[in-house]
Amino acid sequence: GDGAFVPAVVIGTGYGAAVSALRLGEAGIPTLMLEMGQLWNKPADDGNIFCGMLKPDRRSSWFKSRTEAPLGSFLWLDVINRNIDPYAGVLDKVHFDEMSVYVGRGVGGGSLVNGGMAVVPKRSYFEEVLPRVDAAQMYDRYFPRANSMLKVNHIDKGWFEDTEWYKYARVSREQAGKAGLSTTFVPNVYDFDHMRREADGTAPKSALAGEVIYGNNHGKQSLDKTYLAAALGTGKVTIETLHQVKAIRRQPDGSYVLSVVQSDADGKTIAQKEIGCRHLFLGAGSLGSTELLVRARDTGTLPELNAEVGAGWGPNGNIMTGRANHVWNPTGAHQSSIPALGIDDWDNPAAPVFAEIAPMPAGLETWVSLYLAITKNPERGTFVYDKATDRAKLRWTRDQNTPAVNAAKSLFDRINKANTTMYRYDLFGSQLKNFSDDFSYHPLGGCVLGKATDLYGRVAGYQNLYVMDGALVPGSIGVNPFVTITALAERNIERIIAEDVKAA
Ligand code: FDA
Repeated sequence: GDGAFVPAVVIGTGYGAAVSALRLGEAGIPTLMLEMGQLWNKPADDGNIFCGMLKPDRRSSWFKSRTEAPLGSFLWLDVINRNIDPYAGVLDKVHFDEMSVYVGRGVGGGSLVNGGMAVVPKRSYFEEVLPRVDAAQMYDRYFPRANSMLKVNHIDKGWFEDTEWYKYARVSREQAGKAGLSTTFVPNVYDFDHMRREADGTAPKSALAGEVIYGNNHGKQSLDKTYLAAALGTGKVTIETLHQVKAIRRQPDGSYVLSVVQSDADGKTIAQKEIGCRHLFLGAGSLGSTELLVRARDTGTLPELNAEVGAGWGPNGNIMTGRANHVWNPTGAHQSSIPALGIDDWDNPAAPVFAEIAPMPAGLETWVSLYLAITKNPERGTFVYDKATDRAKLRWTRDQNTPAVNAAKSLFDRINKANTTMYRYDLFGSQLKNFSDDFSYHPLGGCVLGKATDLYGRVAGYQNLYVMDGALVPGSIGVNPFVTITALAERNIERIIAEDVKAA
């Protein structure tokens, strides 16, 4: 409540935040988590917590009057999106001038809406991206810890080869093979045993009912079921939902005060609060944490923040594309929404690409093969404070995505050539377009490790202030990022608790 003081506050409830809260709670530190989204644990009138992908309602989106699905069209028809009432739904698409970013909103952050793909980066690339982090420690200790805490599991290969639900992935694998490209199985936090029971008809369908970007009603081991459940289990951690942190300032005694707005699920303000704390952990994600610090620096509430705050942002080289298959090569009306294979061409020196074979769970045959390519794009964006709107704006131009599009194009041109197939041009909006170059699922950077912070996430210029999330990763990691974010947070919080928090 008003004037409240707690030893530790964690902003957000995504990966970096959840790791921080669990380890603080285990160390006996009373910790308050502030999350702007809702707790997703109560079924609505239809008996489900989340809405499905094919008939989205207000639960799908964060204060939009129309859904904004990544595939906006099919045969150029706007058949995918729906008008909805503005509401504190689970998926947000944040629009900047020339780039949009999808993020999760709710207790669990991105884990509520993401594809669950749990990939450890290639060690050589991790060393290239974060050369000052001890890779041996990461690969021996923190990546295994993250995988086990996140309940990462592997698909049964025999079942994969048999089931109609992954025909789309087998078709893409064969076509990649014809181009001399190899695929790899991708681990996931979705419970693959549950998925098999869905296929057998002995468990309610979620992945096999097209659920993913608006939440999974079953099967997904999201953070609310792993790290956050364990954090609450320490008895030291509490979570306040529909609480958005707006501003951070520092008291003369070195403690922090947060200005927080509490709303209801329709967006009406219920209360304005000031919450004080000794240790402040930012886990609001690349966009959220960076915006809070850019605002604090440029409005003068934390003037010592350095010029690296806001810099080094990247979309992890994300490019989506779709291919049209021949009629004799159907991809299946039944597709699991949880991807299981990736085309791994990361060691290609000219244009490294790791491309997930993505589903198109339309419930009918589309002959589409869909991909999310992760490429290596050296371009970076910068967040700057905009006084008029009190928001952080992203300086990033569309043409900065040209290296990523070119890398994706070189790989999929090869596949098309080997299979005499073509791109689909009707999936990404009203114009002819075969590559999405204007949105990302993987925002990374803005408060880069070793630049805006020290090598453990301690924010430069201030004591007891930490960045714990995707903002630390400098714009690219070569694979889906949440395992890296989790493992880095495990590494950093261990050091911070030992040296800063316990000692205090
Ligand atoms: P994250 O974004 O998870 O959490 C931040 C939290 O802070 C949110 O809950 C937000 O509401 C809250 N917040 C923000 N500002 C706040 C404020 N001012 N006050 C209070 N709360 C605030 N990755 C992967 O590895 N495998 C995958 O398969 C996928 N697939 C995928 C699909 C889709 C649709 C999306 C959107 C994303 C993915 N990702 C993914 C990306 C992955 O989800 C992402 O990298 C992580 O969730 C980022 O974790 P963080 O801890 O950085 O923040």
